[in-house]
Amino acid sequence: MSIPNPIDPNLLLSRREFTASTAAIGAAAAFALPSFGKLSALREENTLRVGVVGCGGRGTGAVIQALKADPGSVLWSMGDAFEEQIQSCLHYTNESMLDLDDEQGTDAWSKKIQVADRKFTGFDAINQVIASGVDVILLTTPPAFRPEHLRLSVDAGKHVFCEKPVAVDAPGVRSVLESAKIAKSKSLSLMSGFCWRYQDQVKETMHKIHIGGIGDLHTIQTTYNTTGWVQPKARKSGWSDAEFQLRNWQYFTPLSADHVAEQAVHAIDWQAWAMQDRAPVRCFGVGGRQTRPDLAETGNVWDHFSLIYEYDNGVRGYHMCRHWPNTPSDNSAYFLGSAGNCTMQVWNGNHTIEGETPWKGTAKSNDMYQREHDVLFKSIRNNTPVNDGKFMSHTSLLAIMGRMAAYSGKIVTWEEAMNSQVALNQQSWSFGERPTPTTPIPGTIEEI
Ligand SMILES: NC(=O)c1ccc[n+]([C@@H]2O[C@H](COP(=O)([O-])OP(=O)(O)OC[C@H]3O[C@@H](n4cnc5c(N)ncnc54)[C@H](O)[C@@H]3O)[C@@H](O)[C@H]2O)c1
Repeated sequence: MSIPNPIDPNLLLSRREFTASTAAIGAAAAFALPSFGKLSALREENTLRVGVVGCGGRGTGAVIQALKADPGSVLWSMGDAFEEQIQSCLHYTNESMLDLDDEQGTDAWSKKIQVADRKFTGFDAINQVIASGVDVILLTTPPAFRPEHLRLSVDAGKHVFCEKPVAVDAPGVRSVLESAKIAKSKSLSLMSGFCWRYQDQVKETMHKIHIGGIGDLHTIQTTYNTTGWVQPKARKSGWSDAEFQLRNWQYFTPLSADHVAEQAVHAIDWQAWAMQDRAPVRCFGVGGRQTRPDLAETGNVWDHFSLIYEYDNGVRGYHMCRHWPNTPSDNSAYFLGSAGNCTMQVWNGNHTIEGETPWKGTAKSNDMYQREHDVLFKSIRNNTPVNDGKFMSHTSLLAIMGRMAAYSGKIVTWEEAMNSQVALNQQSWSFGERPTPTTPIPGTIEEI
């Protein structure tokens, strides 16, 4: 089985391609549209202005989902480190809107793009998007910038959609926890990109586990094994160190947090969710860089991790992730309990329990990416703010803690991880010189 890359379904190229890609993950509700009657009756004061910062694959997907989620949402301003990313995002968003117009026989959707000249580039784009008068901001840059962007957004009173992971290090996680509190105190909605929390089949299975469907849970196994990752880009002349790293951000730990925390964090989130977001006592693990070609553009990140989390109630969580070409993919979870074992294969919708009371999940699949935005915009309209701040920070730290343990070779406690003072981006970001981070060697790292 090959695992669809969670990045792919979100880059909306055209209606046909999108429908095909979402069908691949069983997203039947991908094109559930709000009524056009409602949209055309829209008054100016009912508009929700959306800004996006980080106009890549996920930013483009999130824009389209935000525009579909609410009859009054309009794309108001855009920010990215690079101009062409804004153009590309706008192109695909426009194309999808036109496609929908054709299908529906109306140009109502096209009117949702109201960006005009509110397109901002560089590292200061976040400030300009905020200042442009948006109501909702989509934070979809590489994770390194999330804590700062989130704080600026909630300080300015914006509702936020915030992609995962929320940080690359513990100081970032602590900052996000603080920002979540600020959002709460201001009645702002804060939606995370931990999309499985909004997928009905996984929700049903988690509920089943929580109500004792497998008896007492004692072991969790999760995997995120894939054969590859985003294609790295060779350095072009004229690119500064910073630009080179940004264009290959997945491959540099200070930008991405490494794949265990950037990508496999989705599977680690299933563990967190099954444990009802209880913190583990400690974690240890192994990993390395075995098959990644040693190129400048493949940075310093590892290509495999294997982690063991221990909880105070005796539960153990085992997580494995890898990027190894020519090997089998797997992205699934197994929950073992005193009365049965649950298998959760999210990509083919196989959710079963074998044991004392056998069970098969009956929930229908849904487009979890769209659902996130539907919930977010509804919460804004109803003034019932959603706030994912705590669990999105907790799960991000869980994965970062695993990376700390594997990189260092040490046993890392939750307290050590949460209180870690190691900041991966001490030098602030600007286009210029930047040292290349080294590939970690276990046993040589003092501070985690
Ligand atoms: N929930 C999911 O399933 C899912 C899927 C894909 C990606 N993601 C997450 O979304 C985020 C973005 O991933 P992507 O695949 O869209 O990456 P991407 O490289 O396609 O897009 C990132 C964009 O951010 C821009 N950028 C970088 N630094 C910036 C800065 N300081 N200010 C403004 N713009 C900046 C880049 O130029 C780029 O256009 C990551 O955190 C990733 O983990 C989540």
